Amino acid sequence: MKKVYLETYGCQMNEYDSELIKAILEKNNYTMVGGQDDADVVLLNTCAIRENAHQKIFHRLDQLKARKKRGQIKVVGILGCMAQNLRQELAERSPIVDIVAGPDSYKRLPYLIRSVMEKGEKGFDFSLSEYETYSDIAPRRLPGVNAWIAIMRGCDNFCTFCVVPYTRGRERSRPVDSIIAEAHQIVAEGFKQITLLGQNVNSYRYEGQDFADLMEKMAKIPGLRRVRFTSPHPKDFPVRLLHLIAEHDNLCNHIHLPLQAGSDRVLERMNRTYTQKEFLDLVETIRTIIPDVSITTDIIAGFCGETEADFQETMAVMREVEFDSAFIFKYSERKNTIAWRKFEDDVPDEVKTERVMRLNELQREISKKRNRAEIGRIREVLIEAPSKKNPQEWLARTDQNKGVVFSAPQHRPGDFVKVKIVDAGTHTLFGELIEEPRRLPIVTEVNV
Ligand code: SAH
Ligand code: SF4
Ligand code: F3S
Repeated sequence: MKKVYLETYGCQMNEYDSELIKAILEKNNYTMVGGQDDADVVLLNTCAIRENAHQKIFHRLDQLKARKKRGQIKVVGILGCMAQNLRQELAERSPIVDIVAGPDSYKRLPYLIRSVMEKGEKGFDFSLSEYETYSDIAPRRLPGVNAWIAIMRGCDNFCTFCVVPYTRGRERSRPVDSIIAEAHQIVAEGFKQITLLGQNVNSYRYEGQDFADLMEKMAKIPGLRRVRFTSPHPKDFPVRLLHLIAEHDNLCNHIHLPLQAGSDRVLERMNRTYTQKEFLDLVETIRTIIPDVSITTDIIAGFCGETEADFQETMAVMREVEFDSAFIFKYSERKNTIAWRKFEDDVPDEVKTERVMRLNELQREISKKRNRAEIGRIREVLIEAPSKKNPQEWLARTDQNKGVVFSAPQHRPGDFVKVKIVDAGTHTLFGELIEEPRRLPIVTEVNV
């Protein structure tokens, strides 16, 4: 039995892929281990979205060098988006790498590992598939509260800054029935929440059924208390989905809606295919249909050609929308993307950094304001795990995906409880457990 240690970087899609990889390897008689010290094989499932994602992996490979040279580790493999992005170059730059395999090649991993072990042959596989959805593999999930399901793979949007269409290939959707069957199984295993994943879930299509159809089916699964999804694209947001979220308690009132930039000129250069006005109108529609919704976003600062005036429009949209939270990134040029071919990465690094700081500062104020508006409200929350700062307390989440910390020693992760929000900061709400009155047994009188 060969022992494999797998480390995961990047987004939730990669977390999910790692569960697929574990399932594939275990089926082929490999044992997964929890640390590099016991491992014959070390695999890194990597990300390529920004340059620092690549740097992190090169740094990690430097750390592994000595163990590999001493023969303590027999095989080092790089999987995922960075593998697909750099291909052979990776093995050339780092000779300890034996396997480089992209996101559609995981079924060949057992074969690739065996080739290294038995024949000393390095293994590369970068073939991207138009069909692979791994719908025949049951992911190896660790017990917990949330389970991921990738409902589609790849991306056809070609936002000009983005490497994903190159690392994950063409967009393809997984069959509705296989998703729903897996969801039933997940609920039977005790998970309380399912998060559906795709680079652009709005373009999910399978034999005439779209994302709203899929969500409607998810909403009807008995015992499934929470359904989340990420990410929708603002360009083709189905209004029917908003009505479904409003109608069904178990479809969560949270929408992650990546804005990227506020100025129409920059949005066009990014090939986002919506304007500032269309984005703002969509936000209004969302809030009209689901009044108690939270909206979060992603922003890129310092994209090619972004002037101070363009940047001010991003700030203005943020002020107007008041997102509940935002991930703010410095533009990082990716080789082979459209922006790399067509535009100059001309915003100086210090300007990018300074813009990111200004956006973060503004967002911190807004997040705090929106979180403090929760004070006094009673929310049903799902307990996820011990709080990192104080393990005596729980971290739980509201339907709106806001983290709440509170004390409730009698409860466990996976429990739904009601809390009153008593305080709030930029990132976290603080609550007090509301004890449910104990239900007295109902005595039915029987007339004799
Ligand atoms: N498919 C998702 C995005 C996945 S990548 C979507 O469209 O919503 C997550 C985020 O990384 C993006 O929303 C974007 O804000 C950021 N990002 C992508 N490419 C980037 C780049 N080259 N530089 C900086 N940030 C980038
Ligand atoms: Fe990248 Fe755009 Fe596809 Fe998102 S929608 S993965 S940002 S190309
Ligand atoms: Fe995810 Fe990074 Fe790939 S964000 S899709 S792992 S490039």
